[in-house]
Amino acid sequence: MSAIVWNWFENGLKNMMKKIPETMNTSEQILSFLRQCADAISKQTSDPILLEGAETFSQRIKSPGVKQFSPQLLPVIEQIKHIKPTPFTFNFQQIATELVWKPSPRTDEKGEQMALGIFNELFELGDIVVGLLLLDKHQSYPLHQHQPQELYLVLSGEADWRYGGSEVFKKLVPGDVIYNHPNDIHGVTAFNEVVLALYVLWK
Ligand SMILES: [Fe+2]
Repeated sequence: MSAIVWNWFENGLKNMMKKIPETMNTSEQILSFLRQCADAISKQTSDPILLEGAETFSQRIKSPGVKQFSPQLLPVIEQIKHIKPTPFTFNFQQIATELVWKPSPRTDEKGEQMALGIFNELFELGDIVVGLLLLDKHQSYPLHQHQPQELYLVLSGEADWRYGGSEVFKKLVPGDVIYNHPNDIHGVTAFNEVVLALYVLWK
C-alpha cells in the first residue's frame, strides 16, 4: 500500500475505530474490538472471497456464548508497548492483557518471541477460528499450511508475508487484508517492528 493510500486508510478508519468504553464488561470490550476488525476487513477489500469470510466472521461474533476464561499472558506480551500506533491499536492495548495468549504450536518457542491470542478460548465461535498473531521484531512465524481457508488483517507492523499461493514474500502494512486458499503455504517475517495481525480461518 502506498503512502497516499495509507493516509486515506488512516483517515477513513479513524472514525470507525471509536474508543471502546472501559465501562463495558471485558467480554463486550473484546467483542467490540472484533466487530471493528470485521468492519475494517469489509471496508478494505472488494474480493468476494474475503467479503464472504468477513461476513461469516461478523455472524459468529454477533452474540456468541461467552466461556469462563481467565487471562493468560506470555513474555512476548511485554512487547505490546512497542507496537506502532495505528487506528487499530489503541483499542487493542485496552484488551491485550485480558486475552488468552498461547505459544504457537508450530514452533518450540515458548512465547518469548511470538504468541497467539485465541478468541475461541473466550467465545463459542462455531466452526471458525479467530486469533491474534503477535510477533516480536526480527522474528519469523514459520511457513505452514492447513485445510481451512484463512484471512489476515494486518493491525500493526510492516513485515514480509508469503500468502495466497505465491512463493515469494511481499511487504504488507497495517490495513492490508490477505487471503490463503486451503493448503497455501504461508508465513511472515518481521523486521524492525513488532507485528500484530488478526486471523480468521473458516470452512
Ligand atoms: Fe495459517
